Amino acid sequence: MPAFMEPFRIKAVEPIPFPSVAERDAALTEAGHNIFRIPARLITIDMLTDSGTSAMSAAQWSALLSGDESYAGARSFERFEHVVRELTGYPEVLPVHQGRAAERIILHELLGRGDVSVSNTHFDSTRASVEAAGADAVDLPVEYDEATPFGGDIDFDRLRRLLTGDGGARVRCLVLTVTNNANGGQPVSLDNARVVRQICDEHDIPFLLDASRFAENAYLVHHRSPETSGTTVRETAREFFRLADACWASLKKDGIANIGGLIALHDADLAKRCRAKVIETEGFPTYGGLAGRDLDALAQGLLEVTDVDYLRYRAESARWFAGVLAEAGLPVLRPTGCHAVYVDAGRLLPHIPPHQLPATALVNELYRAGAVRTTELGTLVFGRPGTDGATDIPAPRELVRFAIPRRVYTASHLEYVAEVAERVVAKAADLRGYRIVEQDDVMRQFTAILQPV
Ligand code: F0G
Repeated sequence: MPAFMEPFRIKAVEPIPFPSVAERDAALTEAGHNIFRIPARLITIDMLTDSGTSAMSAAQWSALLSGDESYAGARSFERFEHVVRELTGYPEVLPVHQGRAAERIILHELLGRGDVSVSNTHFDSTRASVEAAGADAVDLPVEYDEATPFGGDIDFDRLRRLLTGDGGARVRCLVLTVTNNANGGQPVSLDNARVVRQICDEHDIPFLLDASRFAENAYLVHHRSPETSGTTVRETAREFFRLADACWASLKKDGIANIGGLIALHDADLAKRCRAKVIETEGFPTYGGLAGRDLDALAQGLLEVTDVDYLRYRAESARWFAGVLAEAGLPVLRPTGCHAVYVDAGRLLPHIPPHQLPATALVNELYRAGAVRTTELGTLVFGRPGTDGATDIPAPRELVRFAIPRRVYTASHLEYVAEVAERVVAKAADLRGYRIVEQDDVMRQFTAILQPV
């Protein structure tokens, strides 16, 4: 049996669209060459994100029917709270509608103007929350290559320098994002989390875990560090929660459901302040912007997600997919994590300078060639306007992410994506870049209008 054989069979199916070449060309033009603006009915394989795109299990679908839709104190909340407490060890549990609501609520309690949040890498919505609070988000990822098992770690040398330097007193929180989505989806090691705990104690700053992919991180830790033998993946996940003071998560990932998020923590006073914010912006604190049935589906998803057969399939299918994309000629980043394969568009398209968005050029060509939707994680997402206000300061790397929705696509779907990639690689030298004609100040990638140069 191949290691990545799906450890489930399919019980409900949904047809996928096959738009023609002319429809794809027209869709790109109408969308202002921005993949986010293309309707899903014109996408064959959607690898835009692993967020909220999971297929739920039969057990989750049946849990939906037990949803208690009472406004306050629903049984669904009690079930959710119980599962989260067991998993994380945190007594205070606040559901919210998705990850960024959690980030905004807790980070705005901890940060003010002039403060600093430091992280292995803030995800873009996390950075937006930090900046909306008037604070600065500082990313200190380690450098990694193919031989680095824990490329998601935070760089201690730079962290210590920051904390003992002039601006050290401005640092108000440390965020460890597991896995490190914005930096190649690489895992964070237990050792890294332990030293973060020590450093946070020394400097009296709270240690926050962005636990959106906590189970995938724990599996990769298990797989890559011998010290975890004899323990379960769930125990390893729990150790991360134990080391941190608080966590938030987008449950649209490892909750294996289509919506949801949470804040969980020890500090009763901070929880009380966050709860007041939940009431103001999300709803009564026992539903936090979700339906009771969502909480039941999430409670079940949080039990299923640490199943080792499922996680092995997840990690091995990503590894296999990286292999077929590499055979197709794409420069893939290794080692692979679980939720996505990242490709270096800068290496594939060296003739397109960063300000002409090589990662966007690859994303758009994958769509044109076979209605495959991926995400750009290059200068469109991470670039910043330069001093002249016109030319962007480029992102550190021009990456394209092929995200893998949970339990949705089979190996033959992924083989199709590799065939499309091969066609794009064949004409890489002819691809052209883009320029931005319209953009918003925050998270411009969602709305920007682009033109080929
Ligand atoms: N933190 C991480 C690490 C994330 O990857 C995301 C979302 C969030 C927070 C925000 O959660 O979307 O529920 O509000 N990542 C998605 C992605 C959007 O495609 O990687 P949200």
